[in-house]
Amino acid sequence: MAMTQTQLLHELEPVVAGELDRHNSMAKEWFPHEYIPWSEGRDFDGVYGGEAWQDSDSKLPEAARISLIVNLLTEDNLPSYHHEIATTFGRDGAWGTWVHRWTAEEGRHGVAIRDYLTVTRAVDPVALERARMTHMESGFITEYGTMLEQLAYVSFQELATRIAHRNTGRASGDEGCERLLARIAADENLHMLFYRNLLKAAFELDPNQTMRAVTDVVKTFQMPGSSIEGFTRKAMIIAHEGIYDLRLHLDDVLMPVLKQWAVFDKTGLDASGEQAREELAEFLAKTETTAARFVERRAERKARAAMR
Ligand SMILES: [Fe+2]
Ligand SMILES: [Fe+2]
Repeated sequence: MAMTQTQLLHELEPVVAGELDRHNSMAKEWFPHEYIPWSEGRDFDGVYGGEAWQDSDSKLPEAARISLIVNLLTEDNLPSYHHEIATTFGRDGAWGTWVHRWTAEEGRHGVAIRDYLTVTRAVDPVALERARMTHMESGFITEYGTMLEQLAYVSFQELATRIAHRNTGRASGDEGCERLLARIAADENLHMLFYRNLLKAAFELDPNQTMRAVTDVVKTFQMPGSSIEGFTRKAMIIAHEGIYDLRLHLDDVLMPVLKQWAVFDKTGLDASGEQAREELAEFLAKTETTAARFVERRAERKARAAMR
């Protein structure tokens, strides 16, 4: 018999408590203000009568700039994410402690990136503010109805975010930006570990239902910022630059997490669990083909661009 959501939440509570202890012993306190080069700042037009932002102010390559905006707008939607996980995980006991701790940690990501971009004039602050309003006004609603699906989603999503931040930092060619994004990526990694360990415990409790949840999430995974205006074009530029693409998604996000859960070594699944696992394997094989084709085409595009 499949466990109910309430039973799963209850059974996982001690795992959440243990993971919280582990998380708190590993998380290092850090201060966003220490990562911002304040002395580079200048007044803008408006209240202080300084200079308006202009294109030539930004020293960042276009792809890094676009990726920073996507990452920041994604972080900005934290109130909606909080609402979603607080609704599913609850705000009591160890679950609640985690929900609030996680929210507090995520809260500094948007603050730090926005300060960095504003002080260094890396992006147009007016366009950025308008984009933030539009994006937050549309909110974020999870596509996933069950706790297991949400746990699977955040396990992959935290790792995806980690990789996106880290590679954006590298692509920026800016030492300060890279340092800040590496610091944020370290937070995302700890979040991933938390969720990944929880889902691993869920596999012990109800392997068939958990396998189905994992398969459904892998097959439908979208980045949390995919509702950002113009996301498809932005994502293409980000992928062309190798900041985040299908190859990375498969090799550095999906496969390492699936391997940690040992999904292909599990024994004793019932027919529904086996069926889910087969679907997962098929999907991964198809994705492998698409990713390989993408990398080939990208290399061709780059070679053509270099010839011009
Ligand atoms: Fe974050
Ligand atoms: Fe995170």
